[in-house]
Amino acid sequence: MTPRRRRRSLALAVAPLVLLLAACAEDAPLDTLEPRGPQARTIDDLVAPVFLVAGVVFLFVQLGVLFLAWRFRQRRADDDALPDQVHGNTRLEIGWTVIPAVILVFVSVGTVATIIDLADEPEGATEVTVVGQQWWWEFRYDVDDDGTDDIVTANDLVVPAGEPVNLDITARDVIHSFWIPSLNGKLDAVPGRSHPLTIESDEPGVFRGQCTEFCGLSHAYMQMRVVALEPAEYDAWVDNQLRDATEPAAGSAAADGLEAFQTQCSSCHLVRGGNDDVFDGSAQVAGVAPDLTHLMSRGTFAGAMRDLWVDLDGNGEVDIDEVGGQLDRNALEAWLRDPGSVKPMSPPTRGMPNLNLSEEQIDALVAYLETLD
Ligand code: CUA
Repeated sequence: MTPRRRRRSLALAVAPLVLLLAACAEDAPLDTLEPRGPQARTIDDLVAPVFLVAGVVFLFVQLGVLFLAWRFRQRRADDDALPDQVHGNTRLEIGWTVIPAVILVFVSVGTVATIIDLADEPEGATEVTVVGQQWWWEFRYDVDDDGTDDIVTANDLVVPAGEPVNLDITARDVIHSFWIPSLNGKLDAVPGRSHPLTIESDEPGVFRGQCTEFCGLSHAYMQMRVVALEPAEYDAWVDNQLRDATEPAAGSAAADGLEAFQTQCSSCHLVRGGNDDVFDGSAQVAGVAPDLTHLMSRGTFAGAMRDLWVDLDGNGEVDIDEVGGQLDRNALEAWLRDPGSVKPMSPPTRGMPNLNLSEEQIDALVAYLETLD
């Protein structure tokens, strides 16, 4: 064996081991095997038995291969006798056709039953439209069911815990894929189509997700979270989201920030009560950037790639009760200073441009954004 071939076989042998070890990570946020709601559990209930059967078949086949290789090995250099051939043995051939067919029938019955189960869209559930954008997720809620969306938010999909939520998934630009592994499987977000997906979380909590369809430059930086709140807290969240932003007091730093926001950010971002009358109330925003009316009620920004708040208890994750605590000013300022250095983008058509803001403008903008609670 040449050294190159030896290195290649070593790499081939080590790769599965590394993959196996990677599967042992604790508290992995995108773990499909840790269902946290009924839909994810339905999938898990199918995965577990299928894995078990596949594991038994795998072991049986591997042990068989090893046994046959050992049993019929070449014992002497001049020994070239072939073992008895089994070709044409009807019993064997019927056996190894029927057994896999029966196994596959069982697996397919379970799979179809699971698909039918997951297609169930409970009535009276909270309804949210999910829109994939390059490269972030938009969530739209039509609270009074009159055909217009009353709440438009980004990155954090806020839902009531313990209740089903029917999602209507689509995309604005290219195909994305919506995936919150703790709550349900993946579903593509396709422009011009609407795909239904129901999620439900057993308990209040935060569940991470990731876009899983290659959608361009920052596909890997396109994350989202489901924030499940106690139903009463969820109702309070809805009431707050329905409110317009309050205008900052004249002469304050936030008022300067609003002015900077109206001149610099208005062509893409909307703040209801902030810049929605900049162009005589017409819908001036391009619809390709997050609605910022209640930015400070979210836990993350920049496609959920950055925490908006300081992790005060230092457990490596900003918890729900840390939202609204201590703003991660450095992260937000770095984003305003040069968004492309935080997350790869190709403005002006895709992603946030570097507006070459002065430090005074950045300070004023942060002061204004801080009022958007
Ligand atoms: Cu959106 Cu990948």
